[in-house]
Amino acid sequence: MLRFIGRVSPPLLNVTHFTNAWVVQQHQFTFTCGVNQSQRTRSFAVSQFTMSKPKVLVTRADIPQKAFTMLEEKCEVDVWKMPSPIPRDELLKRIPGKDALYCLLTEKIDKEVLDAAGPSLKVIGTMSVGYDHLSMDEIKKRNIMVGFTPGVLTDATAELTVTLLLATTRRLFEAHSELLNGGWAKCAWSPLWMTGQGLKGSTVGIFGMGRIGQGVVQRLQGFSVHKFIYSGRSPKKEGEELGAEFVSFDELLQQSDFLLVTCALNKETQGIFDEAAFAKMKNTAVIVNTSRGGVINQEALVKALKTNQIRAAGLDVMTPEPLPPDHELTTLPNCTLIPHIGSAETSTREDMATLTATNIIAGLEGKPLPARLC
Ligand code: GLV
Repeated sequence: MLRFIGRVSPPLLNVTHFTNAWVVQQHQFTFTCGVNQSQRTRSFAVSQFTMSKPKVLVTRADIPQKAFTMLEEKCEVDVWKMPSPIPRDELLKRIPGKDALYCLLTEKIDKEVLDAAGPSLKVIGTMSVGYDHLSMDEIKKRNIMVGFTPGVLTDATAELTVTLLLATTRRLFEAHSELLNGGWAKCAWSPLWMTGQGLKGSTVGIFGMGRIGQGVVQRLQGFSVHKFIYSGRSPKKEGEELGAEFVSFDELLQQSDFLLVTCALNKETQGIFDEAAFAKMKNTAVIVNTSRGGVINQEALVKALKTNQIRAAGLDVMTPEPLPPDHELTTLPNCTLIPHIGSAETSTREDMATLTATNIIAGLEGKPLPARLC
């Protein structure tokens, strides 16, 4: 007779919803074996399946606390404890065996990282709407789910695009420098000094009429713009609803007084604003980019600004990022530069962080991701 009197601790099946996190653990338990009333108690080890929390790597410490709290409740969180991007070697060292990755646009998630991660990696949550830092082909090959943060940053980024447009065309930073460097003191209130160009009666062109492009047009409705035009892969009903006319890329270049770049960076848009494109633009045109630096060929832009091929540029994004403070672009008075702050609005960043955490948790629980890229 074999009489089981053992008690397993922790409980034999500690089932949670994290189906991907089974681990085999060894546990000691005892049983009594009664043969002819003589009993022997033995202690031995058995293999036992229990559940452990899934492992998530978070590549930065300075994300909104709410997202950490959400992740820590359900996951074992390994965080790069610095308010700076995780170094590549550290990412490669920490990613093996992780079930999920919380990353930012500063991390390149390519074949090398995915190979290092191995088959345990089920979900990537990027705290960004842009995903050009992710090797999508490699990710898809491995059936890894990807969550991103569209929608929650549209308003903040559209607002910033308008801000940068106005700052550029009305020469805000140049004027501020003049105040600090004594230029204002020299000329006092001069009728022709620091004059820019207003939006009234202008043609505003949008390259990439996605959510952010649409948000920009909505915000500019009160500026007495003469005409909105846009270009991209194909006409969009949202564009027409906003009263914007779909045009070819060449027409966009030729007609825009203000050209706002709000597209995604991909094979089609990489370097599309090159020397030939700037040559087609008006000499009075202003270009503003809040998408990705790679959409503009920067050497061609520097040349266009230096030779007054176009009047001015406002850039929230550039190549590389961070831009070295002594980069040639920083020396051009007709170039307004800000450090990739399109979505830098407090509640927006919190929403981006919590959406990223929600995407990750949903993926680990086998539920639909609220904002799934693939
Ligand atoms: C920011 O640039 C983003 O892609 O969210």
